[in-house]
Amino acid sequence: MCGIVGYVGKKDCVNVLLDGLSSLEYRGYDSAGILTMQKNNNNTYNLNICKTKGRVNDLKISAKQFGISGCIGIGHTRWATHGEPSDINSHPHMDSTSSIGVVHNGIIENYLELKDTLINKGYAFASQTDTEVIPNLIKDNYTGNTLDATITATALLKGSYAIAIVSKENPDEMIVTKKDSPLIIGKGDNEYFVASDIPALLKHTNKVYILEDGEFAKIKLNEITFFNSNKMKLDKKYKEINWSLEAAEKCGYPDFMLKEIFEQPTAVRKTINDNLKNNKFLSELKIDDKFVKSINKIYIVACGTAMHAGLSGKNLIERYLKIPVEVDIASEFRYRHPIINENTLMITLSQSGETADTLAALRLAKSENAKTLAITNSIGSTISREADHVFYTQAGPEIAVASTKAYNTQLATIYMLMISFAEILNIDVTKLKQEIETMANKIEIILNQSEYIETIAKTMFKEKDAFFLGRGYDYPVSLEGSLKLKEISYIHSEAYAAGELKHGPIALIETGTYVICTITDNELLNKSLSNIQEIITRGAKVILITNKKIDSKYYDYLIEIPDCPSEFSSMLSIIPMQLLAYYISKLKNLDVDKPRNLAKSVTVE
Ligand code: M6R
Repeated sequence: MCGIVGYVGKKDCVNVLLDGLSSLEYRGYDSAGILTMQKNNNNTYNLNICKTKGRVNDLKISAKQFGISGCIGIGHTRWATHGEPSDINSHPHMDSTSSIGVVHNGIIENYLELKDTLINKGYAFASQTDTEVIPNLIKDNYTGNTLDATITATALLKGSYAIAIVSKENPDEMIVTKKDSPLIIGKGDNEYFVASDIPALLKHTNKVYILEDGEFAKIKLNEITFFNSNKMKLDKKYKEINWSLEAAEKCGYPDFMLKEIFEQPTAVRKTINDNLKNNKFLSELKIDDKFVKSINKIYIVACGTAMHAGLSGKNLIERYLKIPVEVDIASEFRYRHPIINENTLMITLSQSGETADTLAALRLAKSENAKTLAITNSIGSTISREADHVFYTQAGPEIAVASTKAYNTQLATIYMLMISFAEILNIDVTKLKQEIETMANKIEIILNQSEYIETIAKTMFKEKDAFFLGRGYDYPVSLEGSLKLKEISYIHSEAYAAGELKHGPIALIETGTYVICTITDNELLNKSLSNIQEIITRGAKVILITNKKIDSKYYDYLIEIPDCPSEFSSMLSIIPMQLLAYYISKLKNLDVDKPRNLAKSVTVE
């Protein structure tokens, strides 16, 4: 949920840290801070801290006024869990003798117990955070070597953490370690960069070491050494990341979200690529025919937008493959004792590959012998490393908190999975296989209507409530459209299966209530029209998204999308919904990329 950065090299690290934090700000943005190791004239060292409640831009102003510098430093952008956003609760935190500085992403579950013990030993605490126990615990175990003290201290921690540590006692090094929170180290020329995620490194290097749980790195100028918790050296190789720097920058767009909406045709094309030729998809996944034929149940487990992509997959897979599919919210799945066996396929969908609940669900399924497949956008993420099989969507870095292109690439991947399984099971899906190749072009056609969608947004942005309705394949996408609207425009919004409205929610429809209706399924066309008629009678204003010819008495605003099989229509109907949410958020002068209370990567439960 928070973003951490670090630098060890010959440059002054302040701008490197601040730049890195700017590109990680999507992970948390209620406060930020940096710490540098500063050498004094008498060859002693000081840990200089500059931190503030607010955004990285506020920190940049403070850092300039404060005049902080140094060649080794750590930084943090926070999404508060323990302790309100405030200067004092911002990271970095130091031990009570101000000799050890730490930035932390994650939650220390036993911090109260540890804090009591440390207070009894005479340590003082300044903040309300769980993190502050870490530097004090390291200090308490320090006997001349920061790495050893860190290994001993982290063995006492319960919960999740990615931490970077600097100490005045060993001023030429940084120690980093992790458990259940991501941490990577970029290798530059005679310098190293630490970060929670790839976008913070792309400016400097594409050579990345991915730290595993329980591993430690000691980083010095020109030298990095990896250890396990038994202090044994590890031989780790770096990976080369193929994301370009432009992919992680705005490139002329006012916001990442708009850029990412417009990147969808490319993202979908790259994800589909030639995966459906010669059964490449399954052979690259290393899933064999025998297993496909033995599957008796599929779980799709995910959170938020990814879960909505899963819901669209359920309808499709059940219809064609006749295999029962359950879609679960990961935070529910992990505690509901699901029925799992070796013929179960568990698919986890996650853009970040780090979502704590999705990861826990994956681990549960593995422990009960299910085969696990991760569909993720993040190379080397924890979920990708732990699943039996992994497919990487090719969305490129998604920076805006509101997920857009990741959703569409997740849909494309589930569709490809269904088609590939169908071929093994001798089910004819020739038409769908041809159609999937055309979807990227069709997305482009809708994007050309963005100005028109902005004019609709202008009529709607002052509303307090909105509803989304759809039947069949149009229901899961309505859930996703509704999520987009509420998370970035703060308009209260709910999505219903259109037939369900009259069982209660229709009581909320009154004159002028905006309802976004989607109709893409011929089989359900007349049923959907009846539902629209019911809300029009009660005064609703209807925005209709459709690829059918529909009488103008059924809508106030019409958004036409290209024709396609209804099975794939979510990939198209979501585009106007994303654009509508985006423009409404802009018209309300909100921060589209960093909506309140949210973070991009939810690495806590
Ligand atoms: O990284 P993940 O795909 O696992 O993230 C899941 C959700 O947290 C995410 O989709 C969230 O709902 C987004 N803010 C939606 O726009």
